[in-house]
Amino acid sequence: MTLDSAEFRRTMALMPTGVTVVALAHGDGVRAMTVGSFTSLSLEPALVLFCIGRKSRLAQCAEVGRPFSVSFLRADQQALSTYFAGGWKGPTPPPHRFVPFGALARLEGSAGAVGGTLSAVLDGGDHLIVVGAVSELAQGLPPNQPLVFFDRHYHQLDPSTPQSAPDLDPVDGIARLFHETWEQ
Ligand SMILES: Cc1cc2nc3c(=O)[nH]c(=O)nc-3n(C[C@H](O)[C@H](O)[C@H](O)COP(=O)(O)O)c2cc1C
Repeated sequence: MTLDSAEFRRTMALMPTGVTVVALAHGDGVRAMTVGSFTSLSLEPALVLFCIGRKSRLAQCAEVGRPFSVSFLRADQQALSTYFAGGWKGPTPPPHRFVPFGALARLEGSAGAVGGTLSAVLDGGDHLIVVGAVSELAQGLPPNQPLVFFDRHYHQLDPSTPQSAPDLDPVDGIARLFHETWEQ
């Protein structure tokens, strides 16, 4: 039996996920993309994985040894999810900045983040299964509500909780600002 791919997508959309922005080293900066397929993989050693489309621009940067970061978006960062998925229609990008994080950078103001070095890139059909060895950790301050994606819409766990990140103070001494706009 051939599986109907539209039905497969519709069914998988009923699996709620968090929303992350995966960044990989690219030249002097980063290339970043919205990713929902992120999960932890191993505690000892500390490994995570995410899956990225083979045809995505991020896939061109997915090679063993590359620095990576995964920023877990907060409920108030929905615009960044749209932006890093290539769907932002605004005249300028939604405000954001990458702050130094180990060998790379993470999105400021996210719920949490991990970073390190890619340790494996595996076949996953039309996607790549990318494994990262974690050496950097960051945790957002409470109240810390995640952005959730379910049934093709964004959700938040507790809409009554204030959403602004308490750790979004001006950051002094940023060594480098990373930002790459997508060529649309
Ligand atoms: C909530 C959400 C989750 C996503 N998760 C993934 C994912 O896990 N893997 C993936 O390859 N694309 C995922 N995408 C789609 C990519 O973000 C989007 O296709 C990508 O930015 C396109 O990159 P490209 O212009 O280089 O092709 C997701 C998009 C959204 C909005």
